[in-house]
Amino acid sequence: MKRPILLHPDPRLKKRADPIADLSDDLRSLADDMLETMYGAPGIGLAAPQIGVGTRLIVLDCEKGENAVPRPLAMFNPEVVAVSDVLSTYEEGCLSIPDIYADVERPSEVTVSWLDRDGKLHEETFGGLWATCVQHEIDHLDGKLFIDYLRPLKRQMITRKMTKLKRELAREKA
Ligand code: NI
Repeated sequence: MKRPILLHPDPRLKKRADPIADLSDDLRSLADDMLETMYGAPGIGLAAPQIGVGTRLIVLDCEKGENAVPRPLAMFNPEVVAVSDVLSTYEEGCLSIPDIYADVERPSEVTVSWLDRDGKLHEETFGGLWATCVQHEIDHLDGKLFIDYLRPLKRQMITRKMTKLKRELAREKA
């Protein structure tokens, strides 16, 4: 089932999410809903706080292009265990901040550990778009958005724009 995606600014996007203790069918179906919501948007990553759920769960699939084989990943309790010294810059966007893009510099490689939907522990090193995306999504679990890396003036401008957009959307719905 697709879930509505929260738009910035929203206090639920600024909260630290709680780790999961045990895998359950409810959590597996939450992961399925998030993947469906992400692909439907369309997007390459989504974190549980973006649908208003304060759980440390992210989903992502950064295989892009026409012949790409999909690789849907659901990560419970994802943790960055190592980062490269080398940085790279990507133009990032976010489903909670539609139509806004900005360059963000992050480690170009990152090693992440997580539990899969069966509670099995994984560890993998990601590069390229995957590295950027997984760091962006884990940030969401700590209440951090990509615009928090921008200069305050730019961030304030984006937040004002988003506040206006949300007002307009609320008016349309009324
Ligand atoms: Ni995002």
